[in-house]
Amino acid sequence: MNKKEIMKSMECAATLFVCSALFFVGGCSRPENVKAEKANPTFLQLAKNRFSVRYYANTPVEQEKIDAILEAARVAPTAKNLQPFHIYVLKSQEALAKINKLSRCAYGAPVVFVVCYDRSKAWTSPFDGNDNSGVMDSSIVGTHMMLEAFEQGLGSCWVKFFNPKEVAAAFDIPGNLTPSFLLDVGYPQKGVAPSKMHSDKRDIKDFVTYR
Ligand SMILES: Cc1cc2nc3c(=O)[nH]c(=O)nc-3n(C[C@H](O)[C@H](O)[C@H](O)COP(=O)(O)O)c2cc1C
Repeated sequence: MNKKEIMKSMECAATLFVCSALFFVGGCSRPENVKAEKANPTFLQLAKNRFSVRYYANTPVEQEKIDAILEAARVAPTAKNLQPFHIYVLKSQEALAKINKLSRCAYGAPVVFVVCYDRSKAWTSPFDGNDNSGVMDSSIVGTHMMLEAFEQGLGSCWVKFFNPKEVAAAFDIPGNLTPSFLLDVGYPQKGVAPSKMHSDKRDIKDFVTYR
């Protein structure tokens, strides 16, 4: 090997060393990736971590967050894409006082969504007579909203404990709309934890039958 060849092979070795070092440093950036994973949980992590919140802080909910929740409602699938739902957003002091009188499960949340379905627009199955898709459609809408609220760092509680007729009358909800459920939303009070019911779930084998 002459001097030129020696220099050339040293150059190659140096390049190889730098490349390996860069690769190693890249490979060591895992803690950041882990953080990113935590910031962007998988759907199952999100579904498992969400829980019903029944104690709310006084902090108001930002309009952008309400908008994001409504956007999640907007894109929900519905039978034949008929989108037979209407949502009342209760956030004024007057409306909140009313809903807290009508349901003990509004829990003083700063925002309560009244999710309604429109019986005159919902899809009617030709197979089971009068049954329409309103409850299903509005429930999928509500599930989107509930999970988006959690994604936004908010707590929520799905509420069925109210008289739909009383709620419709209190908020001038027209006759074609049925209040399907309430969704309480707000920042959870500090230290709020899931109730025992949250983790009391059946095993998959207890509710699945393969044929
Ligand atoms: C259709 C439906 C109706 C519900 N109604 C009420 C209600 O009226 N009041 C209440 O406090 N929670 C209500 N919940 C919340 C459930 O009690 C709660 O989701 C369940 O116990 C599981 O707990 P987790 O949401 O913390 O996982 C309702 C939930 C659903 C899906």
